[in-house]
Amino acid sequence: MKITITKDLDKTQEVLFLGLFEEDKDNGKSFNKELAEEVEEATGRKAFSRKFGEMYATKLSSHAYKKVAVLGLGEKKDLNVEKIRQALGKMVTSTKCWSLSSFTTNIVEKVRGCADGEVLGRAAAEGLLLANYNFTKYLAKEKQEKKKPLQVAALQWSGGNDLSEGLKVGRVVAEATNMVRDLVNEPANVVNSEYMEKMAKQVASQYSSVKLKVLNKAELEKEGMGSLLGVNAGSQNPPKLLVLEYTGSKKGKYTAFLGKGITFDSGGYNLKPTKYIEDMKTDMAGAAAVMAAVKVAAELKLKKNLLGVMPLCENMVDATAQHPGDIVRAYNGKTIEIGNTDAEGRLVLCDALAYTEAKYNPEVMIDLATLTGACVVALGYYAAGVMGKDDALLHALHEAGNNSGDRVWQLPFFEEYQDWMDGSISDLNNISQKGKGYEAGSITAGVFLSKFVEKAKWAHVDIAGSAYWAVDGPYLSKGATGSGVRLLSYYLLENQEKE
Ligand code: BES
Ligand code: ZN
Ligand code: ZN
Repeated sequence: MKITITKDLDKTQEVLFLGLFEEDKDNGKSFNKELAEEVEEATGRKAFSRKFGEMYATKLSSHAYKKVAVLGLGEKKDLNVEKIRQALGKMVTSTKCWSLSSFTTNIVEKVRGCADGEVLGRAAAEGLLLANYNFTKYLAKEKQEKKKPLQVAALQWSGGNDLSEGLKVGRVVAEATNMVRDLVNEPANVVNSEYMEKMAKQVASQYSSVKLKVLNKAELEKEGMGSLLGVNAGSQNPPKLLVLEYTGSKKGKYTAFLGKGITFDSGGYNLKPTKYIEDMKTDMAGAAAVMAAVKVAAELKLKKNLLGVMPLCENMVDATAQHPGDIVRAYNGKTIEIGNTDAEGRLVLCDALAYTEAKYNPEVMIDLATLTGACVVALGYYAAGVMGKDDALLHALHEAGNNSGDRVWQLPFFEEYQDWMDGSISDLNNISQKGKGYEAGSITAGVFLSKFVEKAKWAHVDIAGSAYWAVDGPYLSKGATGSGVRLLSYYLLENQEKE
């Protein structure tokens, strides 16, 4: 989609969306008297209110546009950048719904001054491009036609260049997010560890600042990543650990992003039942988000030295698969009893964490994982769970989440939980050994991971609920959301090295 900036509304586009705040009593009269009368009439019969998100498509025909619609923006004082994403997203979905392909709007101009032009621009591009996403490649041509993306959004703006700067950044972030949505929506018979490697190679070949290191099965065995290898034991696809390394600063230790990359999670011998197994192609969403975050950093030349670490496996059932009760030895020498083969995410991430810390000595490690069903139960879709012991890092992630709309919600990491994963005949068990085993399931998973981090500042982000939605949102449609990309991108944007 082309996003253009125009001083006045762009009459060459098909649809016009006029934003109306609660306090805009003239109902758009300054634009057109006929429109104002119709809006007033619609308000009278309760077909339209200026509450945020309410839309009314007018009957106005004798006009330059094929359609003119008004969009309620609520009270001006309640406006924020997330609402800009939502409002523009709504315009995109409505335009698509009318089978039209371009629009112009005054809303960005209307909210000028509510936030920095750059911040508005980022949010605008994100709302537009995220809402314009469709995963249609497996549909018949006629059905694809009906979901055709928009061609142009023309934004009225009379402020400075900062809006267009923001639009550029927002586009990079949104396109990386959509790349993740493609990777996660693609089924597991397409996206396996080799496919992920191919994608990572593409990122590395696109930027001279990015290098890719690939550890294949033989190297993983040599390094002693018994925990990761155990998970892949029942799979026909090879296990891999990918490390994308981005150099963006002359100083500063590494920040490492690590992402769970289970290309399909059947549960293993603790097989998942119907209704739980079908969406498990999405279990590599963390790894995909990490890959995309490295791409964003390289594209925007962010001042940071970054690692994107992706342990890739497939959790399958086979004669060679690991048994419940097996004991494996992780990279750091710790022994783990497999209390449940379905708690596999922590088993691949723990090796990745310990390996990354030992080889690269990063200052910060942030892992992203579709780790627990308990997190979906606790938080639903609209925030990822975050936990750890470093308050400053948790705070930075909370800020990045709020600013990007890709939110996190902190779960407690109380001292009382810290021995719940201790094993009885091994150092650790991969499921909680206290109570019924499922209490505080997201937290105990985090506790397990924490045992594989020694000195780095570390936070764990559970994206099990936020990565894949069963319902449409204002600018993200159901299916893969690319959760984590905006979070990590904003975290990087807001925490660059000062050179
Ligand atoms: N990949 C799942 C978690 C998940 C559930 C992600 C729903 C997305 C949506 C994970 O590997 C898993 O199966 N976790 C178990 C852990 C349990 C056995 C301790 C779970 O949550 O049930
Ligand atoms: Zn699992
Ligand atoms: Zn899993």
